[in-house]
Amino acid sequence: MERTFLMVKPDGVQRGLIGEIVSRFERKGLKLVAAKFMMITPELAERHYAEHIGKPFYPPLVAFVTSGPVFAMVWQGDNVIGLTRALIGKTDALEAAPGTIRSDFAVHTNFNLIHGSDSPQSAAREIGIFFAPHELIDYNQTIQQWI
Ligand code: PPS
Repeated sequence: MERTFLMVKPDGVQRGLIGEIVSRFERKGLKLVAAKFMMITPELAERHYAEHIGKPFYPPLVAFVTSGPVFAMVWQGDNVIGLTRALIGKTDALEAAPGTIRSDFAVHTNFNLIHGSDSPQSAAREIGIFFAPHELIDYNQTIQQWI
């Protein structure tokens, strides 16, 4: 069973979209296994976005994600990485398909509401950065037999 790291960014929190965004993943039939409302320190942002250090958007990206609380989550399900990225939509709101989170709510690329892991390797790395193993909760969800 695959897991992914998802994070409502400060713009999504400020705009009151945590519930809307979480609801989309719940309705899809995915399983929430961890969640944390937290501030990201500059050090944590540097670890999370290490692959983008040196890119022009890196300094504003770090300033943005450290500017206010985020809602960090781990979700589980078959193909959860691909499914959640499809529900999120492309990075650029102009290119995000209608009905996706970014198409429905984001206007600018630099305020695009949510982060989602892009591969199993990224997911494992990001989950490990944000959550301790004991924070991932293993439980039976009865609807899973229908999905
Ligand atoms: S890349 O270079 O193709 O790997 O970059 P990309 O995957 O498109 O984006 C990497 C993360 O940087 C964010 N991003 C930006 N932030 C601020 N300003 C600008 N212009 C910008 N462009 C990209 C983008 O949302 C990605 O963040 P996450 O949190 O992974 O969505």
